[in-house]
Amino acid sequence: MPRPAATNDARRLDHQRGGADRSELSRTANASRSGPRARLTQNDPPQPRERGRLASRPAGGPPKRERCRMNEDTGADYLGPWELSECVDGGGVGVVETSRCSALAEGDVVTSFNWPWQTHAVMMGSSLQKVDSQMVDGHLSYFLGPVGATGLTALLGVREKGHVTKGANQTMVVSGAAGACGSLAGQIGRLDGCARVVGICGSNEKCRALVEDLGFTAAINYRSEDVSARLKEICPDGIDVYFDNVGGSISEAIIEQMNRGGHVILCGQISQYNKDVPYPPPLSDKTQEILQSRSITREKFMALSYMSKSEAALFELSQLVKSAQIKVLETVVNGIENMGVAFCSMMKGGNIGKQIVKISD
Ligand SMILES: NC(=O)c1ccc[n+]([C@@H]2O[C@H](COP(=O)([O-])OP(=O)(O)OC[C@H]3O[C@@H](n4cnc5c(N)ncnc54)[C@H](OP(=O)(O)O)[C@@H]3O)[C@@H](O)[C@H]2O)c1
Repeated sequence: MPRPAATNDARRLDHQRGGADRSELSRTANASRSGPRARLTQNDPPQPRERGRLASRPAGGPPKRERCRMNEDTGADYLGPWELSECVDGGGVGVVETSRCSALAEGDVVTSFNWPWQTHAVMMGSSLQKVDSQMVDGHLSYFLGPVGATGLTALLGVREKGHVTKGANQTMVVSGAAGACGSLAGQIGRLDGCARVVGICGSNEKCRALVEDLGFTAAINYRSEDVSARLKEICPDGIDVYFDNVGGSISEAIIEQMNRGGHVILCGQISQYNKDVPYPPPLSDKTQEILQSRSITREKFMALSYMSKSEAALFELSQLVKSAQIKVLETVVNGIENMGVAFCSMMKGGNIGKQIVKISD
């Protein structure tokens, strides 16, 4: 499992040490393994200068926790806001090119929560997690999605907070259902025994993918349909489990139709991230009253709080993906120069499944 983000101080220190290399690299940002590599003759990839540092070539993708790091309150104890001039980083996977770290060798596949948005990076060996590409049948981007932090979030969220019970005829609703976490969470809810899994997402194309490709019972396009009215039709017996990725008015409409003793899995609140409010953002009095009067649980959930369970969970996710019991959706954009575009697109719903930015082959 990728390690938790470094503390602010550690990140700053690493940045200062690697500062010259990084700014030099960012000027050669288009460099990839083919073609433009020749452009590196004047700005060669940095060599590890200190024991324990290494150079690696990345293929990574931006999750939206980066958006939270643009706020003063990131909503997570382990994540600080970005400092001015700091190199942007996020989840990444890549291959070691050169190593002075005894635990890692050239050719090793490594992941990190703090992968700099660069074509090449010099990183501390201790900030990297070596992974076995057989776990994903060589599909390395899956380490960022179903067999990485995203998969852990979906699986552990459902298991730790969802109280799904086989044979209990439960109905699960997932918001942000066609995104990285949501698309996996709904499939896990179904595999774990929910009788009905309903996804809420932002386009008809996404609705089709949820039902036809991923096996959701039904899907609602919140941009064109009346979520409350459609939920009443699809879930006449109410909702037992809600995997909440988005918060705001969609979540309030769902909670209104939840049954007594239901469970909200408070995964994320993406509709509120541009507001710079504390996490989790406050609910309306009406929704708060519904939670209380119906004894519905809604506890903050952070996948990182369950790292003792990550190894077993990643193994299970790997098996589920290999056996096609879980289907994987990805939206892949090529080139580091498109990182910002891909990030903004994801924040606006441009992705189906995990948004990946591929930086080199
Ligand atoms: N608790 C944890 O440990 C943990 C870990 C990772 C991620 N998360 C949370 O999980 C959630 C999903 O993250 P992800 O990485 O899987 O991203 P994602 O779902 O792949 O991408 C974000 C999606 O959110 C939807 N969205 C954006 N703005 C919205 C709005 N105002 N209202 C409704 N939907 C909106 C968009 O889809 P539409 O087309 O459907 O609008 C977009 O595709 C986020 O809230 C994130 O913070 C939590």
